Amino acid sequence: MFEQMNQSHSIALDEIMDARFSVREFSDKLPDRTDIEQIVRAGFNTPFAGKPARGKEDFRRIVIIRTSSEVMRAIERILLAEISKLSNKMLGKADDEPPDDLFYFFRDAPYLIIAAERKGYPITYMSDHSISLSYCMHGMWLKATTLKIGFKMVSAFIHAKLGNNEEFCRLVGLPCGEYALDACIVGYPHEHLKTPQVNYPDYESNTTWLP
Ligand SMILES: Cc1cc2nc3c(=O)[nH]c(=O)nc-3n(C[C@H](O)[C@H](O)[C@H](O)COP(=O)(O)O)c2cc1C
Repeated sequence: MFEQMNQSHSIALDEIMDARFSVREFSDKLPDRTDIEQIVRAGFNTPFAGKPARGKEDFRRIVIIRTSSEVMRAIERILLAEISKLSNKMLGKADDEPPDDLFYFFRDAPYLIIAAERKGYPITYMSDHSISLSYCMHGMWLKATTLKIGFKMVSAFIHAKLGNNEEFCRLVGLPCGEYALDACIVGYPHEHLKTPQVNYPDYESNTTWLP
């Protein structure tokens, strides 16, 4: 595999990584289904924790949802309720306080992609937050970038632990309680969107080489 690698791959990868950013405003233009399929395939082709996956053919599942659909409205309602409960609890507010509209974030991207990773022994992989899914997300993000398709993480899905919500699991066709989740929205960036200035950690000040 490595024999095929040459300097042009290295340069191309740097260019893709430099071009990647969080797109938070989307255009109405709908990406082709084949492009979404390529993004999802890239998500499957990423590292996974071997032990909880052993013997399981369905250790990673990906669900693609049109954000204009009825299913999406139901998902938003469930997510919002769970996140409100969580934030009210953390802020010491009553359970039935009205939800914060901060989380109405799907409306302008055409697709929501939910990635699910089977939980399982050993204990570090039994949590509702999957390390493997971060790799999956990054793979999809880089692939989307090469297709000029914008990508935004929606980590509220992790916090809400929707893999344990029966109604949600029924809607997306996952067995309840068995998967950790992460999610993103994808679509073409809005025509007027400019690449934001982001301050990434600086190599010189943040790297330590020990002898
Ligand atoms: C674990 C994780 C969760 C994130 N959750 C969100 C999110 O819910 N909404 C969002 O807009 N961006 C989210 N981001 C994106 C970061 O805010 C973003 O990557 C960072 O600010 C750097 O900006 P860039 O992606 O434009 O380079 C998340 C990123 C990571 C790694």
